[in-house]
Amino acid sequence: MNYRWAAGIRRPVELTRLRTSHCFLRTLRVLPETRPLPETPIIMPALVLPFILAAVSLVYFYIARPRRPPGPRPLPFIGNLLQMPKDHEWRTFSEWAKKYGDCVYLRVLGQPIIILGSLKAAHDLLNQRSAIYSSRPRLVMAGDLIGFDQGLALMPYSSRFLSLRRLIDKELTGNMLRKYWVLHEDESRILIEKILEEPGLFLESLRHYAGSIILRVVYGYQTVPRNDRFLLLAEKVMGAFSLASQPGAWAVDIIPWLRHLPSWFPGTRFKQTAASWSQLHMDVMKGPFDWALSHQDSPLLIRPNFVSTVVNRSPDVLSAEDQDLLFWASGSLFGGGADTTVATLSSFFLAMALYPEVQATAQAELDKVLSGELPRLSDRPSLPYVECVMREVLRWNPIAPLGLAHLLTQDDVYNGYHIPDGSIMMVNVWSILRDPLVFPDPLEFRPDRFMNDNRAMETVSSVFGFGRRACSGVHFAEASMFIAIATALAQCNVSDAVNSRGEKVHRDVEYQTGTISHPEKFSCTIVPRVQL
Ligand code: HEM
Repeated sequence: MNYRWAAGIRRPVELTRLRTSHCFLRTLRVLPETRPLPETPIIMPALVLPFILAAVSLVYFYIARPRRPPGPRPLPFIGNLLQMPKDHEWRTFSEWAKKYGDCVYLRVLGQPIIILGSLKAAHDLLNQRSAIYSSRPRLVMAGDLIGFDQGLALMPYSSRFLSLRRLIDKELTGNMLRKYWVLHEDESRILIEKILEEPGLFLESLRHYAGSIILRVVYGYQTVPRNDRFLLLAEKVMGAFSLASQPGAWAVDIIPWLRHLPSWFPGTRFKQTAASWSQLHMDVMKGPFDWALSHQDSPLLIRPNFVSTVVNRSPDVLSAEDQDLLFWASGSLFGGGADTTVATLSSFFLAMALYPEVQATAQAELDKVLSGELPRLSDRPSLPYVECVMREVLRWNPIAPLGLAHLLTQDDVYNGYHIPDGSIMMVNVWSILRDPLVFPDPLEFRPDRFMNDNRAMETVSSVFGFGRRACSGVHFAEASMFIAIATALAQCNVSDAVNSRGEKVHRDVEYQTGTISHPEKFSCTIVPRVQL
């Protein structure tokens, strides 16, 4: 025990060293007065105060300051700003994990950021302690100004979030999805027909497929084969979302009060951009929703669909509040599903062009099981190799390499380190899926690694995220990917991938940077398959 005299307080101060379950904390505790103090001239406290403050600061910085997880050394005020990678952040984060461990601490302009580099750390915190790790960071441009945070993916953890999530989970999980299988099968056949008709436009066909299947399942709307009005708008809003949510791209995300500057003020063009993107966002959401509500009795409406199911479940007309929830739930599905499905399926075509032996093995399985019929989702359990091809596509180059960031809403302690309330939590899914202990030769596309390997299966599910924020479209996504992959393998041969410069693509493929990472632009030869 260590007694000091605190100026002005005129009581002894005890410096105690307390051991908590995880770490040492040192605290200053003011004790009750124990003996009379000598008289001190009034000038004394003023002279001593700076020394006391300096001492207290030293004690705070070297003793009482909570112990943070290790990470790259920050600079005063700006923290790790200059060390933050400009693109493909997951590669730099992976190097940092090798140096500092699976829980790396960064501070950028005062904002704490934690990078989790192992499945265990992600599971321990985001799954096991999901009650406090399930909010989302605030994005002023994308969220406050444009309104993307009204949708599920960017919404803070709240009672409204729970209502939206319940509405979606009730309809889009497990057996409930079965009734939409026929729509998935139908759309996948349209997709492959389109691709075989115009193989050069296969990427456009994939975009059409991903958007169409969601519009059909969610709103009961059948897209037209070219230039569909809702799909064209949706493409524009995806572009806006990806620019608006880019970390560090908008000064207003770093200095939020800039939003209060009047629109005539120099440097406030972001306000006009936000206003026009906000309008575009609402148009994309309202278009198919209003169409669905006004076509409830029309033969043009395809049933079953998500909107009609919820509307019909209610005995009365939907209240304004319920209609608002349904509006945002439908829009969240549209936003969450389109780009992710496109990125995954283009990765699949690239892998098939680069690994003909995998393609041949999968086709042999399909031929054996289906005897020339087209695949259906009910065939999935009989097609284990095709299932593994899908898992390997998800693992090989995960399309959301850092998932979506979570926000911690309460101070926490992990492995003896203090993680402050308000920390942004990121999981390096890319490096988890390249762990050679779980996935030997991780750069190779080898579907058989999943055969009878529960650990590999469990690990790859991290592509869909963690805890209470894990992807709410996971079952939907798997159904639409599986049937598109199986139908493509049954009907096409894919080969000869070349990049945008016309050069042959090698197996060390490049992927784009961004929240959703697509393969670098490529084309490939796709021909109808002559079945043996
Ligand atoms: C290969 C396809 C897909 C992948 C890899 C994927 C991945 C993800 C990831 C990583 C998250 C964030 C999880 C987290 O924060 O921990 C997420 C959230 C979400 N996904 Fe997906 N997704 C896919 C397809 C879909 C589809 C098809 C839909 C809709 C039909 C969808 C709807 C959503 C929604 C609504 C959220 C927000 C959930 C929330 O914040 O609570 N996703 N997805």
